[in-house]
Amino acid sequence: MSRFWNPSIRMLHPYVPGEQPQMANLTKLNTNESPYGPSPKALKAIEEAASDTLRLYPDPASDILREAIAQQFGLARENVFVGNGSDEVLAHAFRALFRDDEDILFADVTYGFYPVYCTLFGLSYRSVPLRKDFSLKVEDYVGPCGGIAIANPNAQTGRAISVSDIEFLLKAQPDRVVIIDEAYVDFGAESAVSLVKHYDNLIVVRTFSKSSSLAGLRVGYALGDAALIEGLVRVKDSFNSYPLSRLAQAGATASLLDREWFLKNTQKIMATRDRIIPRLEALGFEVLPSKANFILINHPAHEAIVLAGRLREHGILARHLSSIPRILQWLRVTIGSDEQCDHLLDVLTRYLKHK
Ligand SMILES: Cc1ncc(COP(=O)(O)O)c(C=O)c1O
Repeated sequence: MSRFWNPSIRMLHPYVPGEQPQMANLTKLNTNESPYGPSPKALKAIEEAASDTLRLYPDPASDILREAIAQQFGLARENVFVGNGSDEVLAHAFRALFRDDEDILFADVTYGFYPVYCTLFGLSYRSVPLRKDFSLKVEDYVGPCGGIAIANPNAQTGRAISVSDIEFLLKAQPDRVVIIDEAYVDFGAESAVSLVKHYDNLIVVRTFSKSSSLAGLRVGYALGDAALIEGLVRVKDSFNSYPLSRLAQAGATASLLDREWFLKNTQKIMATRDRIIPRLEALGFEVLPSKANFILINHPAHEAIVLAGRLREHGILARHLSSIPRILQWLRVTIGSDEQCDHLLDVLTRYLKHK
Protein backbone atom coordinates (compact mmCIF):
# COMPACT_ATOMS: atom_id res chain seq x y z
CA MET A 1 0.00 0.00 0.00
CA SER A 2 1.31 3.43 -0.88
CA ARG A 3 -0.19 6.81 -0.07
CA PHE A 4 0.09 7.53 -3.80
CA TRP A 5 -2.37 4.85 -4.82
CA ASN A 6 -5.62 6.02 -6.29
CA PRO A 7 -8.32 5.19 -3.67
CA SER A 8 -10.14 2.91 -6.11
CA ILE A 9 -7.01 0.75 -6.39
CA ARG A 10 -7.08 0.10 -2.64
CA MET A 11 -10.49 -1.53 -3.06
CA LEU A 12 -9.32 -4.06 -5.65
CA HIS A 13 -8.93 -7.77 -4.93
CA PRO A 14 -6.92 -8.83 -7.96
CA TYR A 15 -7.29 -12.22 -9.56
CA VAL A 16 -4.69 -14.74 -8.36
CA PRO A 17 -3.50 -16.98 -11.20
CA GLY A 18 -2.39 -20.57 -10.59
CA GLU A 19 1.29 -20.86 -9.83
CA GLN A 20 3.85 -21.21 -12.61
CA PRO A 21 6.88 -22.70 -10.85
CA GLN A 22 10.12 -22.81 -12.85
CA MET A 23 10.98 -26.36 -11.75
CA ALA A 24 11.59 -29.07 -14.33
CA ASN A 25 9.75 -32.43 -14.30
CA LEU A 26 6.57 -31.14 -12.71
CA THR A 27 3.29 -32.78 -13.60
CA LYS A 28 1.58 -29.47 -13.99
CA LEU A 29 -2.17 -29.98 -13.79
CA ASN A 30 -3.10 -26.69 -12.13
CA THR A 31 -3.76 -24.09 -14.85
CA ASN A 32 -5.58 -25.92 -17.63
CA GLU A 33 -2.77 -25.65 -20.14
CA SER A 34 -2.39 -28.23 -22.90
CA PRO A 35 0.12 -31.04 -22.35
CA TYR A 36 0.84 -30.94 -26.09
CA GLY A 37 2.92 -28.34 -27.91
CA PRO A 38 1.42 -25.87 -30.39
CA SER A 39 0.97 -26.63 -34.07
CA PRO A 40 4.40 -26.86 -35.78
CA LYS A 41 2.96 -24.56 -38.44
CA ALA A 42 2.28 -21.94 -35.76
CA LEU A 43 5.85 -22.24 -34.45
CA LYS A 44 7.23 -21.84 -37.97
CA ALA A 45 5.10 -18.74 -38.56
CA ILE A 46 6.30 -17.25 -35.26
CA GLU A 47 9.93 -17.93 -36.20
CA GLU A 48 9.41 -16.26 -39.56
CA ALA A 49 7.77 -13.26 -37.89
CA ALA A 50 10.78 -12.91 -35.56
CA SER A 51 12.64 -10.88 -38.14
CA ASP A 52 13.83 -7.40 -38.95
CA THR A 53 10.17 -6.34 -39.24
CA LEU A 54 9.91 -6.36 -35.44
CA ARG A 55 11.20 -2.78 -35.77
CA LEU A 56 7.72 -1.92 -36.93
CA TYR A 57 4.48 -1.86 -34.99
CA PRO A 58 2.09 -4.68 -35.80
CA ASP A 59 -1.21 -4.21 -37.61
CA PRO A 60 -3.35 -2.54 -34.90
CA ALA A 61 -6.52 -4.18 -36.26
CA SER A 62 -4.97 -7.68 -36.71
CA ASP A 63 -6.85 -7.88 -40.01
CA ILE A 64 -5.34 -11.11 -41.34
CA LEU A 65 -6.03 -12.97 -38.10
CA ARG A 66 -9.55 -11.54 -37.81
CA GLU A 67 -10.28 -12.53 -41.41
CA ALA A 68 -9.10 -16.09 -40.74
CA ILE A 69 -11.26 -16.33 -37.61
CA ALA A 70 -14.26 -14.86 -39.45
CA GLN A 71 -13.89 -17.41 -42.24
CA GLN A 72 -13.65 -20.30 -39.83
CA PHE A 73 -16.97 -19.36 -38.27
CA GLY A 74 -18.78 -18.14 -41.38
CA LEU A 75 -18.87 -14.54 -40.12
CA ALA A 76 -17.50 -11.22 -41.36
CA ARG A 77 -14.34 -9.54 -40.08
CA GLU A 78 -16.55 -6.88 -38.46
CA ASN A 79 -17.91 -9.61 -36.20
CA VAL A 80 -14.46 -10.41 -34.79
CA PHE A 81 -12.43 -8.71 -32.08
CA VAL A 82 -8.99 -9.95 -30.96
CA GLY A 83 -7.05 -9.20 -27.81
CA ASN A 84 -4.14 -10.13 -25.61
CA GLY A 85 -5.63 -13.34 -24.25
CA SER A 86 -9.34 -13.77 -23.67
CA ASP A 87 -8.80 -12.16 -20.27
CA GLU A 88 -8.23 -8.85 -22.01
CA VAL A 89 -11.13 -9.46 -24.39
CA LEU A 90 -13.43 -10.19 -21.44
CA ALA A 91 -12.22 -7.07 -19.65
CA HIS A 92 -13.01 -4.89 -22.66
CA ALA A 93 -16.40 -6.56 -23.05
CA PHE A 94 -17.32 -5.92 -19.41
CA ARG A 95 -16.17 -2.31 -19.77
CA ALA A 96 -17.86 -1.63 -23.09
CA LEU A 97 -21.10 -3.57 -22.85
CA PHE A 98 -22.24 -4.00 -19.26
CA ARG A 99 -24.45 -1.41 -17.59
CA ASP A 100 -23.46 0.21 -14.33
CA ASP A 101 -26.99 0.89 -13.04
CA GLU A 102 -27.93 -2.73 -12.29
CA ASP A 103 -26.15 -5.85 -11.04
CA ILE A 104 -24.08 -7.96 -13.42
CA LEU A 105 -24.99 -11.64 -13.00
CA PHE A 106 -22.68 -14.64 -12.99
CA ALA A 107 -22.53 -17.98 -11.17
CA ASP A 108 -21.27 -18.33 -7.60
CA VAL A 109 -18.75 -20.89 -8.82
CA THR A 110 -17.15 -19.60 -12.00
CA TYR A 111 -14.15 -17.78 -13.42
CA GLY A 112 -12.57 -15.62 -10.75
CA PHE A 113 -11.87 -12.72 -13.07
CA TYR A 114 -15.55 -11.76 -13.45
CA PRO A 115 -15.92 -10.14 -10.01
CA VAL A 116 -12.46 -8.60 -10.41
CA TYR A 117 -13.46 -6.84 -13.63
CA CYS A 118 -16.68 -5.62 -12.02
CA THR A 119 -14.77 -4.05 -9.14
CA LEU A 120 -12.18 -2.56 -11.48
CA PHE A 121 -14.86 -0.94 -13.65
CA GLY A 122 -17.20 0.09 -10.84
CA LEU A 123 -19.93 -2.40 -11.81
CA SER A 124 -22.05 -3.97 -9.08
CA TYR A 125 -22.64 -7.70 -9.34
CA ARG A 126 -24.63 -10.56 -7.88
CA SER A 127 -23.38 -14.12 -7.91
CA VAL A 128 -26.14 -16.60 -8.70
CA PRO A 129 -25.88 -19.98 -6.93
CA LEU A 130 -25.48 -23.00 -9.16
CA ARG A 131 -27.73 -25.94 -8.28
CA LYS A 132 -26.55 -28.42 -5.67
CA ASP A 133 -24.98 -30.57 -8.40
CA PHE A 134 -23.22 -27.45 -9.77
CA SER A 135 -25.39 -27.32 -12.87
CA LEU A 136 -26.53 -23.91 -14.09
CA LYS A 137 -30.21 -23.02 -14.31
CA VAL A 138 -30.69 -20.34 -16.98
CA GLU A 139 -34.07 -19.33 -15.55
CA ASP A 140 -32.13 -17.86 -12.60
CA TYR A 141 -30.75 -15.22 -14.97
CA VAL A 142 -34.09 -13.84 -16.06
CA GLY A 143 -35.05 -10.49 -14.52
CA PRO A 144 -33.46 -7.09 -14.07
CA CYS A 145 -29.68 -7.00 -14.44
CA GLY A 146 -26.89 -5.00 -16.07
CA GLY A 147 -25.59 -7.93 -18.14
CA ILE A 148 -24.76 -11.63 -17.83
CA ALA A 149 -21.50 -13.55 -18.02
CA ILE A 150 -21.53 -17.34 -18.33
CA ALA A 151 -18.52 -19.55 -18.87
CA ASN A 152 -19.58 -22.52 -20.98
CA PRO A 153 -18.29 -25.03 -20.07
CA ASN A 154 -18.12 -23.41 -16.68
CA ALA A 155 -14.74 -22.64 -15.20
CA GLN A 156 -13.91 -24.74 -12.14
CA THR A 157 -16.80 -27.21 -12.63
CA GLY A 158 -16.43 -28.24 -16.30
CA ARG A 159 -20.23 -28.53 -16.62
CA ALA A 160 -21.80 -27.22 -19.81
CA ILE A 161 -25.18 -25.80 -20.80
CA SER A 162 -26.88 -26.29 -24.16
CA VAL A 163 -27.18 -23.80 -27.00
CA SER A 164 -30.96 -23.89 -26.55
CA ASP A 165 -30.48 -22.73 -22.94
CA ILE A 166 -28.33 -19.86 -24.19
CA GLU A 167 -30.91 -18.97 -26.82
CA PHE A 168 -33.62 -18.96 -24.14
CA LEU A 169 -31.56 -16.42 -22.20
CA LEU A 170 -30.86 -14.21 -25.23
CA LYS A 171 -34.60 -14.05 -25.86
CA ALA A 172 -35.42 -13.45 -22.20
CA GLN A 173 -32.87 -10.61 -21.97
CA PRO A 174 -33.16 -8.82 -25.33
CA ASP A 175 -31.98 -5.51 -23.85
CA ARG A 176 -28.96 -6.86 -21.99
CA VAL A 177 -25.69 -8.25 -23.27
CA VAL A 178 -24.92 -11.89 -22.57
CA ILE A 179 -21.25 -12.89 -22.66
CA ILE A 180 -20.62 -16.58 -23.26
CA ASP A 181 -17.03 -17.38 -22.35
CA GLU A 182 -16.07 -20.42 -24.41
CA ALA A 183 -12.49 -20.84 -23.20
CA TYR A 184 -13.06 -24.61 -22.87
CA VAL A 185 -15.74 -25.22 -25.51
CA ASP A 186 -13.53 -27.25 -27.86
CA PHE A 187 -13.40 -30.17 -25.44
CA GLY A 188 -16.91 -31.39 -26.13
CA ALA A 189 -19.44 -28.64 -25.41
CA GLU A 190 -21.82 -26.93 -27.84
CA SER A 191 -20.68 -23.53 -29.11
CA ALA A 192 -23.07 -20.59 -29.23
CA VAL A 193 -21.32 -19.10 -32.28
CA SER A 194 -24.21 -20.15 -34.55
CA LEU A 195 -26.41 -17.68 -32.63
CA VAL A 196 -24.18 -14.65 -33.31
CA LYS A 197 -25.91 -13.86 -36.62
CA HIS A 198 -29.35 -13.95 -35.00
CA TYR A 199 -28.91 -12.07 -31.71
CA ASP A 200 -27.49 -8.58 -31.35
CA ASN A 201 -27.01 -9.05 -27.59
CA LEU A 202 -24.59 -12.00 -27.72
CA ILE A 203 -20.82 -11.92 -27.37
CA VAL A 204 -18.94 -15.21 -27.56
CA VAL A 205 -15.40 -15.06 -26.17
CA ARG A 206 -12.81 -17.69 -27.08
CA THR A 207 -9.11 -18.29 -26.67
CA PHE A 208 -6.07 -19.91 -28.29
CA SER A 209 -4.72 -20.73 -24.82
CA LYS A 210 -6.37 -24.09 -24.18
CA SER A 211 -7.37 -26.07 -27.27
CA SER A 212 -4.68 -24.47 -29.47
CA SER A 213 -1.90 -24.93 -26.88
CA LEU A 214 -0.89 -21.27 -27.11
CA ALA A 215 -1.35 -19.98 -23.56
CA GLY A 216 2.09 -18.38 -23.80
CA LEU A 217 1.25 -16.41 -26.94
CA ARG A 218 -1.71 -14.57 -25.38
CA VAL A 219 -4.41 -14.45 -28.03
CA GLY A 220 -8.14 -14.42 -27.40
CA TYR A 221 -11.10 -13.21 -29.45
CA ALA A 222 -14.74 -12.25 -29.35
CA LEU A 223 -17.47 -12.90 -31.90
CA GLY A 224 -20.60 -10.81 -31.98
CA ASP A 225 -22.82 -8.34 -33.75
CA ALA A 226 -20.73 -5.71 -35.58
CA ALA A 227 -22.04 -2.90 -33.37
CA LEU A 228 -21.06 -4.76 -30.18
CA ILE A 229 -17.61 -5.44 -31.62
CA GLU A 230 -17.23 -1.75 -32.45
CA GLY A 231 -17.80 -1.05 -28.74
CA LEU A 232 -14.90 -3.33 -27.85
CA VAL A 233 -12.69 -1.63 -30.44
CA ARG A 234 -13.47 1.75 -28.87
CA VAL A 235 -12.27 0.51 -25.48
CA LYS A 236 -9.18 -1.16 -27.00
CA ASP A 237 -8.23 1.99 -28.88
CA SER A 238 -8.59 3.98 -25.68
CA PHE A 239 -6.23 1.61 -23.88
CA ASN A 240 -3.67 -0.08 -26.18
CA SER A 241 -3.80 0.11 -29.96
CA TYR A 242 -1.44 -2.85 -30.42
CA PRO A 243 -2.52 -5.61 -28.05
CA LEU A 244 -1.28 -8.38 -30.35
CA SER A 245 2.37 -8.50 -31.33
CA ARG A 246 3.52 -9.48 -34.82
CA LEU A 247 4.48 -12.89 -33.39
CA ALA A 248 1.07 -13.39 -31.83
CA GLN A 249 -0.83 -12.44 -35.00
CA ALA A 250 1.32 -14.71 -37.19
CA GLY A 251 1.27 -17.67 -34.78
CA ALA A 252 -2.44 -17.56 -34.07
CA THR A 253 -3.33 -17.29 -37.78
CA ALA A 254 -1.16 -20.29 -38.71
CA SER A 255 -2.50 -22.28 -35.77
CA LEU A 256 -6.08 -21.62 -36.77
CA LEU A 257 -5.45 -22.96 -40.26
CA ASP A 258 -3.94 -26.23 -38.95
CA ARG A 259 -7.24 -28.00 -38.29
CA GLU A 260 -5.72 -31.46 -38.43
CA TRP A 261 -3.35 -30.75 -35.56
CA PHE A 262 -6.14 -29.07 -33.57
CA LEU A 263 -8.57 -31.97 -33.92
CA LYS A 264 -5.92 -34.56 -33.09
CA ASN A 265 -4.93 -32.84 -29.84
CA THR A 266 -8.38 -31.94 -28.59
CA GLN A 267 -9.56 -35.50 -29.28
CA LYS A 268 -6.57 -36.93 -27.41
CA ILE A 269 -7.35 -34.78 -24.37
CA MET A 270 -11.03 -35.77 -24.41
CA ALA A 271 -10.08 -39.45 -24.70
CA THR A 272 -7.69 -39.18 -21.74
CA ARG A 273 -10.37 -37.39 -19.72
CA ASP A 274 -12.95 -40.04 -20.45
CA ARG A 275 -10.48 -42.80 -19.63
CA ILE A 276 -9.40 -41.48 -16.24
CA ILE A 277 -12.84 -40.49 -14.88
CA PRO A 278 -14.00 -44.08 -14.22
CA ARG A 279 -10.61 -44.91 -12.70
CA LEU A 280 -10.92 -41.97 -10.28
CA GLU A 281 -14.46 -43.04 -9.47
CA ALA A 282 -13.18 -46.54 -8.73
CA LEU A 283 -10.84 -44.93 -6.17
CA GLY A 284 -13.85 -43.38 -4.45
CA PHE A 285 -13.71 -39.92 -6.01
CA GLU A 286 -16.78 -37.99 -7.02
CA VAL A 287 -16.08 -36.44 -10.44
CA LEU A 288 -18.30 -33.78 -11.94
CA PRO A 289 -19.29 -34.44 -15.57
CA SER A 290 -16.83 -32.40 -17.62
CA LYS A 291 -16.85 -30.99 -21.13
CA ALA A 292 -13.57 -29.16 -20.47
CA ASN A 293 -9.86 -30.02 -20.34
CA PHE A 294 -10.08 -30.34 -16.57
CA ILE A 295 -12.16 -32.17 -14.00
CA LEU A 296 -13.38 -31.20 -10.55
CA ILE A 297 -12.95 -34.05 -8.09
CA ASN A 298 -13.69 -34.65 -4.45
CA HIS A 299 -13.04 -37.59 -2.13
CA PRO A 300 -15.57 -37.94 0.68
CA ALA A 301 -12.94 -39.32 3.06
CA HIS A 302 -10.09 -36.92 2.36
CA GLU A 303 -9.58 -33.19 2.72
CA ALA A 304 -8.91 -31.64 -0.69
CA ILE A 305 -6.13 -29.46 0.66
CA VAL A 306 -4.37 -32.48 2.17
CA LEU A 307 -4.65 -34.38 -1.11
CA ALA A 308 -3.23 -31.38 -2.97
CA GLY A 309 -0.28 -31.32 -0.58
CA ARG A 310 0.34 -35.04 -1.01
CA LEU A 311 0.24 -34.72 -4.82
CA ARG A 312 2.66 -31.85 -4.61
CA GLU A 313 5.17 -33.99 -2.72
CA HIS A 314 5.15 -36.19 -5.82
CA GLY A 315 5.65 -33.26 -8.17
CA ILE A 316 1.99 -33.06 -9.22
CA LEU A 317 0.29 -29.68 -9.12
CA ALA A 318 -3.52 -29.60 -8.92
CA ARG A 319 -5.60 -26.52 -8.10
CA HIS A 320 -7.29 -26.08 -4.77
CA LEU A 321 -9.47 -22.98 -5.19
CA SER A 322 -9.58 -21.79 -1.61
CA SER A 323 -11.28 -18.49 -2.53
CA ILE A 324 -14.50 -20.23 -3.63
CA PRO A 325 -16.27 -21.55 -0.47
CA ARG A 326 -18.49 -24.08 -2.24
CA ILE A 327 -15.58 -26.01 -3.70
CA LEU A 328 -13.25 -26.05 -0.70
CA GLN A 329 -13.50 -29.85 -0.64
CA TRP A 330 -12.75 -30.18 -4.34
CA LEU A 331 -9.62 -30.20 -6.47
CA ARG A 332 -9.49 -29.02 -10.05
CA VAL A 333 -7.24 -31.23 -12.14
CA THR A 334 -6.18 -30.40 -15.69
CA ILE A 335 -6.24 -33.27 -18.15
CA GLY A 336 -2.60 -33.85 -19.02
CA SER A 337 -1.04 -36.43 -21.30
CA ASP A 338 -1.82 -40.12 -20.71
CA GLU A 339 1.53 -40.50 -18.92
CA GLN A 340 0.85 -37.54 -16.62
CA CYS A 341 -2.63 -38.79 -15.79
CA ASP A 342 -1.34 -42.30 -15.11
CA HIS A 343 1.23 -40.80 -12.73
CA LEU A 344 -1.61 -38.96 -10.98
CA LEU A 345 -3.65 -42.16 -10.69
CA ASP A 346 -0.65 -44.12 -9.38
CA VAL A 347 0.11 -41.57 -6.68
CA LEU A 348 -3.54 -41.35 -5.62
CA THR A 349 -3.93 -45.14 -5.59
CA ARG A 350 -0.86 -45.61 -3.38
CA TYR A 351 -1.90 -42.81 -1.03
CA LEU A 352 -5.47 -44.02 -0.61
CA LYS A 353 -4.33 -47.62 -0.03
CA HIS A 354 -2.06 -46.63 2.83
CA LYS A 355 -4.70 -44.54 4.55
C1 LIG B 1 -13.26 -19.43 -18.15
C2 LIG B 1 -12.00 -18.77 -18.58
N1 LIG B 1 -12.09 -17.71 -19.38
C3 LIG B 1 -10.98 -17.08 -19.81
C4 LIG B 1 -9.73 -17.49 -19.42
C5 LIG B 1 -8.54 -16.70 -19.88
O1 LIG B 1 -7.77 -17.32 -20.82
P1 LIG B 1 -6.72 -16.54 -21.69
O2 LIG B 1 -6.56 -15.14 -21.15
O3 LIG B 1 -5.46 -17.32 -21.56
O4 LIG B 1 -7.25 -16.53 -23.08
C6 LIG B 1 -9.58 -18.59 -18.60
C7 LIG B 1 -8.26 -19.03 -18.17
O5 LIG B 1 -8.03 -19.93 -17.43
C8 LIG B 1 -10.76 -19.24 -18.15
O6 LIG B 1 -10.70 -20.28 -17.31
